[in-house]
Amino acid sequence: MTFHTPVMLAQVLENLVIKKEGIYVDCTLGGGGHALKIVEQIYPDGLLIGLDQDIEALEFARKKLKAYQDRVIIVKSNFADLEKVLSSLGFSKVSGIFFDLGVSSYQIETQSRGFSFLKNNLLDMRMDLSNQLNAHYVVNHYSENELWEVFSKYGEERFSRSIARLIVRERNKRPIETTKHLAELITNFYARSKKGRWQIHPATRIFQALRIEVNNELAVLKEALVQAIKLLEAKGRIGVISYHSLEDRVVKNTFREWATGDVIRQYGYGLRKLDKKPLYPTEEEIRKNRRARSARMRFAEKVYLTI
Ligand SMILES: C[S@@+](CC[C@H](N)C(=O)[O-])C[C@H]1O[C@@H](n2cnc3c(N)ncnc32)[C@H](O)[C@@H]1O
Repeated sequence: MTFHTPVMLAQVLENLVIKKEGIYVDCTLGGGGHALKIVEQIYPDGLLIGLDQDIEALEFARKKLKAYQDRVIIVKSNFADLEKVLSSLGFSKVSGIFFDLGVSSYQIETQSRGFSFLKNNLLDMRMDLSNQLNAHYVVNHYSENELWEVFSKYGEERFSRSIARLIVRERNKRPIETTKHLAELITNFYARSKKGRWQIHPATRIFQALRIEVNNELAVLKEALVQAIKLLEAKGRIGVISYHSLEDRVVKNTFREWATGDVIRQYGYGLRKLDKKPLYPTEEEIRKNRRARSARMRFAEKVYLTI
């Protein structure tokens, strides 16, 4: 089975790997698709450190990277703990840090993980299976107001208020246990209210919002980016692929903030953006891999204040 097809692989290698003897961190190892190509470029002089919070991903990546295992370190961790992880391994500076955000095809397609409205399973959506909070809890226990806030903030869903109300009404009759139950509720709402033609599946935004809430995705991303900037050596590279505008906004704003003179003067270091606009996959890649269609990638380089 293909775990995940790495997105924008050539552009990642070209922009990230600039030093054969460098230490590179893949913060979202997934199936190890990007990591394998990175380590192939730096082996045997460099080192690859791979993080993921999903133990199933780590198992898969470990097998994939086996041939290079003497130059690979794999750690189960949330990337919010990036600095702690590197420090426990004895590294204070690295040459490149890479994030390929979101979920892998494996996570979406594995029924038991409860991420997809196209499969029927218990609502879950945890990337880290040891986490307490899951989508079932959010849907069945958050107040109507809390649901409304999650749906509007993380899903940018126009009908957040009505859908939150609908969920509370439904769960008062019987708990909402499965992805199918929730997806049908939302689809029926859209159908009943004749909310125009659907560009995307009507449950997309609500499922995205739940996933972001369950995994606290935007808060940990901001934290990790700031740590990553600190951990880069001079001219070290940071690259991030995001798949929706909320993630990309965090990346764009953080890169912009850290490229300003004020911040660079305050911390003594910051970033130089490599491109004004994000990089996108080619049409050909999108044709071959539909998941690539929403990807955009930003890169920046570490700079130090010179006086
Ligand atoms: C899009 S996939 C990465 C795919 C990988 N680049 C490949 O080529 O196979 C994203 C991965 O990041 C992991 N992930 C997402 N957020 C994370 C976080 N905060 N900390 C650690 N891992 C995270 C997910 O568990 C998932 O395995």
